[in-house]
Amino acid sequence: MACKLNAASSQWIGQQSFTQRNGSSTRLSTRRVSFPIQAKAYTDELIQTAKTIASPGRGILAIDESNATAGKRLASIGLDNTEVNRQAYRQLLLTTPGLGEYISGSILFEETLYQSTTDGKKFVDVLREQEIVPGIKVDKGLVPLPGSNNESWCQGLDGLASRSAEYYKQGARFAKWRTVVSVPCGPSALAVKEAAWGLARYAAISQDNGLVPIVEPEILLDGDHPIERTLEVAEKVWAEVFYYLAENNVVFEGILLKPSMVTPGAEHKEKASPEAIAKHTLTVLRRRVPPAVPGIMFLSGGQSEVEATLNLNAMNQSPNPWHVSFSYARALQNSVLKTWQGRPENVEAAQQALLIRAKANSLAQLGRYSAEGEAEEAKKGMFVKGYTY
Ligand code: 13P
Repeated sequence: MACKLNAASSQWIGQQSFTQRNGSSTRLSTRRVSFPIQAKAYTDELIQTAKTIASPGRGILAIDESNATAGKRLASIGLDNTEVNRQAYRQLLLTTPGLGEYISGSILFEETLYQSTTDGKKFVDVLREQEIVPGIKVDKGLVPLPGSNNESWCQGLDGLASRSAEYYKQGARFAKWRTVVSVPCGPSALAVKEAAWGLARYAAISQDNGLVPIVEPEILLDGDHPIERTLEVAEKVWAEVFYYLAENNVVFEGILLKPSMVTPGAEHKEKASPEAIAKHTLTVLRRRVPPAVPGIMFLSGGQSEVEATLNLNAMNQSPNPWHVSFSYARALQNSVLKTWQGRPENVEAAQQALLIRAKANSLAQLGRYSAEGEAEEAKKGMFVKGYTY
């Protein structure tokens, strides 16, 4: 089948030399192999968006909990899971004065992307005024993966292109897709391949529609394995992810990664120090992530607020080829929820609690954080077995 060339196509496989038989003699000839890789309309914008998000001293506030997960958060402070309560909570977070100093992007759930404050201002505009880039969770969640060791795969590719185009129109400029890999379940080669391929297809579709894809294969904390085992699994997972990202012609300068930190399993007998976690995590990243990638934005994965900040700080003690920062949900929101308790008179104090965490992580991004004076509440772990998002 002849392939119509896009005039803007500039990348080719080839200018390749190959041997051609000509009667009895063999001669070398140079031919252009016509496999155009479509130049992406949004490339410059994607690169700029990724750079803005990966700017010094800033990271991502993830508030993209599905309605079911948001319900669990609200239930922890005795609130019903209604749209009004979800709006009130997200309004509290997003209207925090001064948030933009520490936060460069915020991942929203679809409901919030299309929602406004109680005074009628769109949440996307609230964010833009603080120079925070609005993002959107686009995956449709995890379901069992038949033929695996009780593992899962992430749904959401069907219709993703048209959904992404709509999200862009609504103001989103980056996307997130979270899939998981379980160490105690193997992981099986099938589950790793499926996770990597799904992430790569999603990334290509997002870029095609102007959204910077956050690539998030979360290696779950569940298990009693040592840190070395997590390292081994992370190496395998990231190798496959980058292999398929390249196969799908994803522009590396226009993506962001969201890895889990390399830690021992949550039920392992010994805890690891921030220095050990930083050493193992950076080892994997240096081996697997090209410096073309602008930013590594870690998830917190059930670590306590202080642990997540200390570990990030340890990773920024010497220069890295990429911006190493945060994209936390639980590790930015826990103290906020506890302070708020659903009461209007606590909103200001809850916003202060968010600023304290955001500033601490901003300092950790710059390698200048100290845990001195941190509240006891911020040191409590939040690990939940088999956590869903
Ligand atoms: P946690 O920081 O709570 O692990 O959330 C990760 C996430 O994917 C949110 O977007």
